[in-house]
Amino acid sequence: MKEVLAYIEKKQQVFSKLEFFEFLQDKSISPKQRLAFAPCFAPFVMGFGELNQYVWRDESSEDPVQAIINQHTNEDDGHWVWFLEDLDKLGFNKSLSFTDALKFIWSKEFKISRQTFYEIYRCTYKATPINRLVAIEAIEATADILLLCTQKASEDLKLTSNLEYKYFGMHHYSIDTNHSMDSSETVDLICNLNLNADAKKEALEIVDQIFDLFTNFVNVLGDYARKYKLDNSFKNQTHKPKRITKLENYSLPKAS
Ligand SMILES: [Fe+2]
Repeated sequence: MKEVLAYIEKKQQVFSKLEFFEFLQDKSISPKQRLAFAPCFAPFVMGFGELNQYVWRDESSEDPVQAIINQHTNEDDGHWVWFLEDLDKLGFNKSLSFTDALKFIWSKEFKISRQTFYEIYRCTYKATPINRLVAIEAIEATADILLLCTQKASEDLKLTSNLEYKYFGMHHYSIDTNHSMDSSETVDLICNLNLNADAKKEALEIVDQIFDLFTNFVNVLGDYARKYKLDNSFKNQTHKPKRITKLENYSLPKAS
């Protein structure tokens, strides 16, 4: 397993060089604009909580690797609550009719966010605990990069908004980089797992799949964030849902 973890680290380094992460840290762009990908991220974030709860957790198993996964899912299945809070603080909490909201979430533009979730489901549902763990380790490696960069954008935004962003800010980053899976005892246990040649090959393929998925995903998130120009002021923001009267192609409503 050590080699698989080393491979994840190598892939993470390449992933961290993606243009989207430069964009998130680019101080010449307003921090709110850098976080404008948030609505497109929503289907994935909401689905991710369910992956933890209903796909990865198996309380009936006595497998020690599955026990590590179960513990991890208990720590990670509720972070979408912070995400909803941040959407509100970023000014995306607009009111829509129920059917318009459904069209918005299932729009073509958000397809990447739903597809990433479906693909993760496909490669982890009924996977062995080891393969499931490998997928989670790879996903966490991508999340650490994303959250490190959103945390920087959040800090910049806080200077003008005076608001804490729990999902995109330091709160989430520090919790996600200190999961029980990262404790030295659990890391030792994971490192010492023995994989035969076939199992190792399978694990490395899963790592490749996960990084391919997230590379594609963050590239689209970057395009989305650049596409919609946001109003950067906070002076009129009340944090109460505002009704918007018109949906333009079921895309992100323009800031009023
Ligand atoms: Fe998280």
